[in-house]
Amino acid sequence: MIEERDDLYGAESAQALAAEVYENYKQFVNPPLARVMKISGSPVEVRAEGCTIWDQSGKAYLDFAGGYGVFTLGHRHPRVVAAAREQLERMALSGKTMFNVVLGRAARRLAELAPGDLQISFWCNSGTEAIEGAIKLARAATGRAKIVSTVDAYHGKTLGALSVSGREPFQSKFRPLLADSVAIPYGDAHALERELSDAAAFVVEPVQAEGGVNIPPHGYLQAVRELCDRFGALFIADEVQTGLGRCGYRFACDRDGVVPDVMTLAKGLSGGVIPVGALIARAAVWLRAFGDAPLVHTSTFGGSEIACAAALAAMDVLEEEGLVARARERGEQLLGGAQAIATEYPTVVREARGLGLLVGVELTHEGYGGFIIPEMLRAGVTAAWTLNQQRVIRLEPPLIVSGAEIDRALSALGQGVAAAYEKLGTLPTDSAR
Ligand SMILES: Cc1ncc(COP(=O)(O)O)c(C=O)c1O
Repeated sequence: MIEERDDLYGAESAQALAAEVYENYKQFVNPPLARVMKISGSPVEVRAEGCTIWDQSGKAYLDFAGGYGVFTLGHRHPRVVAAAREQLERMALSGKTMFNVVLGRAARRLAELAPGDLQISFWCNSGTEAIEGAIKLARAATGRAKIVSTVDAYHGKTLGALSVSGREPFQSKFRPLLADSVAIPYGDAHALERELSDAAAFVVEPVQAEGGVNIPPHGYLQAVRELCDRFGALFIADEVQTGLGRCGYRFACDRDGVVPDVMTLAKGLSGGVIPVGALIARAAVWLRAFGDAPLVHTSTFGGSEIACAAALAAMDVLEEEGLVARARERGEQLLGGAQAIATEYPTVVREARGLGLLVGVELTHEGYGGFIIPEMLRAGVTAAWTLNQQRVIRLEPPLIVSGAEIDRALSALGQGVAAAYEKLGTLPTDSAR
């Protein structure tokens, strides 16, 4: 424990802090979430650094949930924190009436790193906002309304993004959603061919993350590129979770060597320190959509100096620390270990699959997960469900994770699976979501 720092946020004891947070959640944040988190034994996060989060009693957890992909550089990477701190001393948020140096530099740097001729970016504060922008851009650029997406996709929870996301329980209370949105099976180019002729865009994750870590066949994105060209629809690659090294490529689109018309980013873009989102488009496409209307798509907080300073530092760290190659190497270790556990317990684990440091462990029955995740937490490792497929546990550690940390996480997963098997035996195979 570190003495100087007030890890109890002024509370008298760890128990008092936990009780205070729970009451606040129950009364003022989200009562049903408070209940679920309490039942699953969720501690209070009080401090984080690198791959580790500490709770109110000083217990350390290896963060293999990784903020669902936010913490590509780990928590509070010193170079990103320093850049944000330095910017905070100058100017934190944009006044919007004058040119913003850091936004210009971040946009230029993103264009340098992005595949092919992706060039003009719009900066916002989250993934779902980036998707909203991409949908608007596609409609304005093509004069068409229809957006094609994929079954089990996850693009966010604002109304436009929700309309192209694939989980009924998230959508049902909010109908009618955006008209003219159609979902087709993921990885199926023939289905896309049937829907694309009158579409503004096809929005797709290069690896479906929240859908259960689904990796499309090689060549799928090339087929998408060809079909979008043939029908004059935009290819929107949602790299909010897969981009910036996560999958062992700078962008997961690089696996198929394709350049989309629009790419969306968020999560790791500002190194896990400040909220951020962005879309980046080919210049001709952007200009066709917004070229005559500079204020048709804007955001008060988007492109703030502090977020852009963090993003600039984060992009440098990603490149200079060789984290893309590292994700690929460590990803093989993580996936190999998870597959060995699957082989040992085939009645509990149906399959382990992944790309880079985005690994999904698919269980044969959802019920096992409710046992394995808390068991891993007790062993000091965080893991999480994928949002649209509750039978899949995602392992998504920072790209700076060490080999020894992966071994520790695998050992916690192995213990959790073994304990689930001992306690629950063989459950019937489940197709529930
Ligand atoms: C692929 C993808 N797109 C969009 C989003 C939405 O991002 P946000 O939660 O920042 O709105 C997510 C979030 O998990 C995502 O995984």
